Amino acid sequence: MMYKTKIIKINEKKEIGNLLDEAISIIKSKQVVAIPTETVYGLAADAFDSKAVERIYEAKGRPSDNPLIIHISDSDQLKKIAKYIPKKAKSLMKAFWPGALTIILRKKKQVPFITTGGRESVGVRMPNHKVALELIKKTGPLAAPSANSFGKPSPTLALHVLEDLDGKIPLIIDGGKSNVGVESTIIDFTQKIPMILRPGGITIEQIEKEIGTISLHKSVLNPKKQIKDALAPGMKYRHYSPKAKVILIQKGSIKNILKKYPDAGTITMQKHISSKGPVKQVDSLEDFAKEVFAFFREMDSLGIKTIIVDKVPETGIGLSILNRVKKAASKII
Ligand code: TXA
Ligand code: MG
Repeated sequence: MMYKTKIIKINEKKEIGNLLDEAISIIKSKQVVAIPTETVYGLAADAFDSKAVERIYEAKGRPSDNPLIIHISDSDQLKKIAKYIPKKAKSLMKAFWPGALTIILRKKKQVPFITTGGRESVGVRMPNHKVALELIKKTGPLAAPSANSFGKPSPTLALHVLEDLDGKIPLIIDGGKSNVGVESTIIDFTQKIPMILRPGGITIEQIEKEIGTISLHKSVLNPKKQIKDALAPGMKYRHYSPKAKVILIQKGSIKNILKKYPDAGTITMQKHISSKGPVKQVDSLEDFAKEVFAFFREMDSLGIKTIIVDKVPETGIGLSILNRVKKAASKII
């Protein structure tokens, strides 16, 4: 299906008024809408309607065995989705919702298998974004993957969604730049010991402080291995990759690498890096996370052939940044 993709701008800080009416009626007619969240933009449809969810996979070009996350606006909506909520999962919801944490639970019958990629489990999160919450309050739970086309970096601006999905979806709600910039952390409560399947906006340190020891899926630290594990279906796919070749610095020196690739685009926390190519200097790990996907896309649009990602510590949200960048990197120096 071809659409003339419309964009509606909504300022999170102002009154929303009737600006969501069109989105609501599109969702009710079983179609998809790209929505802002605090992590990345999502491509949303009615989570309980198989036809609507099918359209998400179609627009993204995503394999339908890769499950979607269901987004909710209040904990009451969980009753229709999850069979049982373990105590520690409840503690995490209390501590981090609304926020960048997806919790995997046993699904109820009403949740169609197309939403869960054929699984008995379901991922749920409450996004920390006024526009998304307001919409979900009116439509009910929305299934949404990141609103990029399959294989591309996740979109942190409405413009990124348009780049990938123009003509393939009827509507994009532009809520400005995503505040977190990397996707949610995913924790699986269908395991004996809760397991992190994907590091993201909420850090592992924050989670352990709340519920004690958890386990890490092997793809968390080793995303490059094409892990074909039924537990973390999303990790077997190539992700987050710009067209440019990505070089991640771990031990090497940025000066030496810039000698070899003088036109490269560089993202770094260091000040005073001089280069012929574009340099994005960020001041904190949080800003690094917020900017990294947008930087990848920007370099592609400038025709830059090599992207250098400078050292990032493997703690806090740094671990989540590294998980994404390692996956996109063709070289780690
Ligand atoms: O921050 C986010 O999580 C964003 C925003 C839009 O909420 N969404 C997002 O969705 O990143 P997506 O589909 O791009 O990534 C979701 C990941 C996939 O790798 C999928 O395999 C995994 O979550 N997932 C979802 N449900 C699952 C389940 N029941 N069991 C195991 N993995 C699951
Ligand atoms: Mg995605």
